[in-house]
Amino acid sequence: MREDLKALREQAEAGLRKAETEEELQEIRTRYLGRKGLLTALLRNIGNVPSEERPQFGRQCNEVKESLSAGIDQLLAGLASSKREALLQCERLDVTLPGRGVRHGRLHPVTQVREEICRIFAGLGFSVVEGPEVELDYYNFEALNIPKDHPARDMQDTFYVEDNIVLRTHTSPVQVRIMEKRRPPVRILSPGRVYRRDSDISHTPMFHQIEGLLVDRGITFGDLKGVLTVFLKQVFGEDTALRFRPSFFPFTEPSAEVDIRCVMCSGRGCRVCGQSGWLEILGSGMVDPEVFKNVGYDPEEFTGFAFGLGLERIAMLKFGISDIRLFFESDMRFLEQF
Ligand code: PHE
Repeated sequence: MREDLKALREQAEAGLRKAETEEELQEIRTRYLGRKGLLTALLRNIGNVPSEERPQFGRQCNEVKESLSAGIDQLLAGLASSKREALLQCERLDVTLPGRGVRHGRLHPVTQVREEICRIFAGLGFSVVEGPEVELDYYNFEALNIPKDHPARDMQDTFYVEDNIVLRTHTSPVQVRIMEKRRPPVRILSPGRVYRRDSDISHTPMFHQIEGLLVDRGITFGDLKGVLTVFLKQVFGEDTALRFRPSFFPFTEPSAEVDIRCVMCSGRGCRVCGQSGWLEILGSGMVDPEVFKNVGYDPEEFTGFAFGLGLERIAMLKFGISDIRLFFESDMRFLEQF
């Protein structure tokens, strides 16, 4: 074997013995066997080799080329398998362990009831609007005809942020904000959080209400009864008996509270309905002319009705939940039942 080929082979083999990584091996392949590689160059210069030695030189070059290439492949395969081995070692998988199931998310029961109610009223032409939870005294009380000495304004009932700023105690301020901005006809529904300083098994300091308001020419108490009857029968079932009971709110006149026949005892009398056979569901009434004046509507031209209801209360009755605080404890065992 010619000296130059021999030296090249020894050099390459020494390189292979030292190589530890895939990159180093690929580098050796390029250095010797690549298109501009050392062995390729040697072969290209075969013209300088005396003609009688040429066939043998060519054969030897090819042998070196093949053994070098085979050596590289073998080392690469070895590296790959020890890499796989190492991975298998550190990623041990015990197929006898119990599987980890995918947990399904679900909507909170209060959200479910809110969406159902919004859907029913959407079908009656109402659109959903929202208002701020931190509210001016003016919108929460004053504009709704609730005078300064009204008990609802007591510090015991209302969270005050500042003298003139409260956490809204109901969703009714949204009525005023909307009417200030729009001319009749108005047909809105406004769900949201409200706050009162109250806490026991049927009260939490934060709870949810939905406000409804419909204003147009010629709206009567008959429209109020009709809309609320359709709504409550869709929520609680066609056979649900209703009762409209005279009541009072400073921002409606006349006012009515709406009761449904108790869903727990069907009217026989039980703990939930306080033996009365009826459950109070919502407050409602014809918008008071004072409120219309505050927003610049002419009470001679327009009439309307409004109503407000507590979402938790409806969810409690629908799902048979006896303690309102359960809604806000984020206990999965409770939430997963709905
Ligand atoms: N805002 C009243 C409440 O929180 C409910 C209500 C709304 C009553 C609209 C009449 C009209 O009790």
